[in-house]
Amino acid sequence: MAQNSIEKVLILGAGGQIGTELRGALQARYGWDNVVSTDLKELPESAGRSQVLNAMDGKALDELVHREGITQIYHLVATLSATAEKAPLPSWDLNMQTYFNAVEVARNRGIRKLFWPSSIAVFGPSTPRNPTPQETILEPTTVYGISKVAGELWNQYAYKAWGLDIRSLRYPGLISHTAPPGGGTTDYAVDIFHQAKAHNAYTSFLGAETRLPMMFMEDAIRATLALMDAPADALQHRTAYNVGALDFTPAELADAIRAHLTGFTISYAPDFRQAIADSWPQRIDDSAARRDWGWQPRFDLNEMVRVMLENV
Ligand code: SER
Repeated sequence: MAQNSIEKVLILGAGGQIGTELRGALQARYGWDNVVSTDLKELPESAGRSQVLNAMDGKALDELVHREGITQIYHLVATLSATAEKAPLPSWDLNMQTYFNAVEVARNRGIRKLFWPSSIAVFGPSTPRNPTPQETILEPTTVYGISKVAGELWNQYAYKAWGLDIRSLRYPGLISHTAPPGGGTTDYAVDIFHQAKAHNAYTSFLGAETRLPMMFMEDAIRATLALMDAPADALQHRTAYNVGALDFTPAELADAIRAHLTGFTISYAPDFRQAIADSWPQRIDDSAARRDWGWQPRFDLNEMVRVMLENV
């Protein structure tokens, strides 16, 4: 068992888009040996200490947490918005069962802090879109969004009823170059860079004028760590925090890419994801996050585009 003064961190879903970058940040902060990464599939040796774990298996999770003396959990397992629409009930099961497994192990094993991501998918067509306030109507139209609203309310319940310190961010679309996104409505904003580099052309599954909130992964990792570092009593919101950084349309992103890649062309073939995007915010009001734990994004559109084109 780890001593009380040492943080011992467990990541669930460490092989995904967020986990691939978060695990390095957590290793830098807590020490290579104090971060245990898990995923359904085996992780490369470069991931550090890792183990195959199905987060649906509460017993295996409990045993691992106990054996390792885990003090913090980052739960990054989910079926995202677009994929979940193709298999609603299994996706609901996965999103909620893994959530409750983490909550249960946190309660039973004295976990100090649990991070669980929420999303802009908690919002829906009845929500004000520009900007979307911290406290507003939550009537999502996707299974993924419903699971995130349910989790947010459980976060708050678990804090009030059991004093469980669960922290959460409503991530916007996340843009990164180290690992592919996992089947969301905002994935176009990553795909576009790969296609731009390979073919100097892209066909977007969202229309030209579809404005969505987005964030470069480095900002998302900083936001996550800043929220986890904040003193518990500074956090006025126990559901999840709005966090904003960028917002742009596919046409605006294409213009920014064209500034680096002469002749880059974009065409549009909207599919079922268009309706999901149309129900989501265009811009996020994140004043609560700025006030409560000092949130401040660093990457603007041009800097994000520059770094992406350099690295994909
Ligand atoms: N990027 C995610 C999605 O599109 C939002 O959480 O599903």
